[in-house]
Amino acid sequence: MNLISPSILSCDYSRMGEEFEDMKKCGADWLHIDVMDGHFVPNITLGAPIVKCMRKCSDLVFDVHLMISDPIKYAPDFVKAGADIITFHIESDCDTAETVKLIKSSGCKAGIAVKPGTPAEAVFPYLGDIDMVLVMTVEPGFGGQSFMEDMMEKVTAVRKECERLSLDTDIQVDGGISLKTVEKAAKAGANVFVAGSAIFGADDRKAMITSLRELASRA
Ligand code: DX5
Ligand code: ZN
Repeated sequence: MNLISPSILSCDYSRMGEEFEDMKKCGADWLHIDVMDGHFVPNITLGAPIVKCMRKCSDLVFDVHLMISDPIKYAPDFVKAGADIITFHIESDCDTAETVKLIKSSGCKAGIAVKPGTPAEAVFPYLGDIDMVLVMTVEPGFGGQSFMEDMMEKVTAVRKECERLSLDTDIQVDGGISLKTVEKAAKAGANVFVAGSAIFGADDRKAMITSLRELASRA
């Protein structure tokens, strides 16, 4: 199933409640929440207390993308704050298996993210234990960057391995997803599409979400 997860990195944070409401009305499936610590990536966004406030504004699935060095330390705070799925980077300082175990044991779904320089094979040992693989299609840290088409081979490699293991794992792409790129990502095997600037910058956000979903399902 193809899902659209608008990245709220591009929303107007001074009107968060209205923005989330609007995303629901426009047909978003999830809300993608980018958490950056200024250490794992050269940018700082928000922490668990803000996610807790966000939870009061929306009943959409909270898809929390942790771009932080120490996810095992902070994941429980995001679970308590109301995350539905927590994705952390395999390149972080934490033990991957332990971090997955901690997230799953709290009743949350778990995802593993890979930066552009990390090969697909890095996530293979964990596929049986996780709900989603996030293949970054930009270097994490900022919205509005260009889609890295050369990541499509990685998406396909992860999809093939999931099929070989008879796993229905979600494969998410994040960074530069737009009307021009979504079909390529879907063809490669992705089924969860994060888009920040393309959706929040659109004149007609509902039409944008509908078109992204349609183009993905055409692939
Ligand atoms: C980048 C973030 C993305 C970003 C995507 O580090 O993980 O979620 O907001 O933004 P766009 O869709 O504008 O590339
Ligand atoms: Zn993200």
